[in-house]
Amino acid sequence: MLRIAVQSKGRLYEETMFLLEEAGIKLNKAKRTLLLSAKDFPVEVLFLRDDDIPQSVANGVADVGIVGENEYVEKKQNAQLIKRLGFSKCRLSLAIPKDEDYRGLCWFQGKTIATSYPSILRTFLEKNAIKADLHVISGSVEIAPGIGLADAIFDIVSSGSTLISNQLKEVEVVMQSEALLIAGNKLTEDKKAILDELIFRFNAIQAAAGKKYILLNAPKDKLDEITEVLPGMKSPTVTPLAEEGWCSIQSVIEEKRFWEVIGKLKSLGAEGILVIPIEKMIL
Ligand code: PRP
Ligand code: ZN
Repeated sequence: MLRIAVQSKGRLYEETMFLLEEAGIKLNKAKRTLLLSAKDFPVEVLFLRDDDIPQSVANGVADVGIVGENEYVEKKQNAQLIKRLGFSKCRLSLAIPKDEDYRGLCWFQGKTIATSYPSILRTFLEKNAIKADLHVISGSVEIAPGIGLADAIFDIVSSGSTLISNQLKEVEVVMQSEALLIAGNKLTEDKKAILDELIFRFNAIQAAAGKKYILLNAPKDKLDEITEVLPGMKSPTVTPLAEEGWCSIQSVIEEKRFWEVIGKLKSLGAEGILVIPIEKMIL
């Protein structure tokens, strides 16, 4: 049995649950307890505050964890980074009241900064030779300047709407963050094998993200030009059609190039173009 620590609510919760579900880890969500075991897979999920996940993995309360890079870097716990998961992207930034005139980091000299990430901030300020007072609070950091508790804040920014609604502006991005899969250093062979299977499934999900399967009919004399537009995984699959001079092509395309590719295919005479979502991709 492999125990995975995940965030109980908030930024990471939804996307983590979605990833686990896609990976075939089905939880009995009817009873929302702290610890749930999965059906058909030797995994149990432990729900924690994100701040507590790095330590719980380091001390073995959980075997692995899915946590924001922000918490992983801040907490400096003895847990290893296994895989970047590519979701819950955000940044850790310095923000100041929006009407302040900002001309560079020296603005922060001698100021008070409210944050839940003192370690990351201290390192950054030291590197830039800025002396400031840190006011460490664990939540609602964004209201600190408004109530006179601090001159500025250092916090997570994602959409930026929290800053706007608190009349703050982002002036320095200190680090980027995304969800990470982390693991303890002393997993048994059994647990390692389960973790390997989990990584295999996560990779298949990530590989499929942003990709579409495409099927189309093409005139044979345009085959070379069309396959050039369709790089696919290796090379596209081409099958002859009953109709003389035509063939059917199957391939994989990047979603972000979708309209560009479709446009080129049409101009090369492709017909009956079918685009299908891909759930998993095992390379
Ligand atoms: C963060 C941060 C802000 C908000 C920023 O909190 O403290 O309140 O998100 O996001 P926005 O730019 O999209 O408005 P989070 O929900 O991660 O909770 P936590 O810091 O208490 O874990
Ligand atoms: Zn938190």
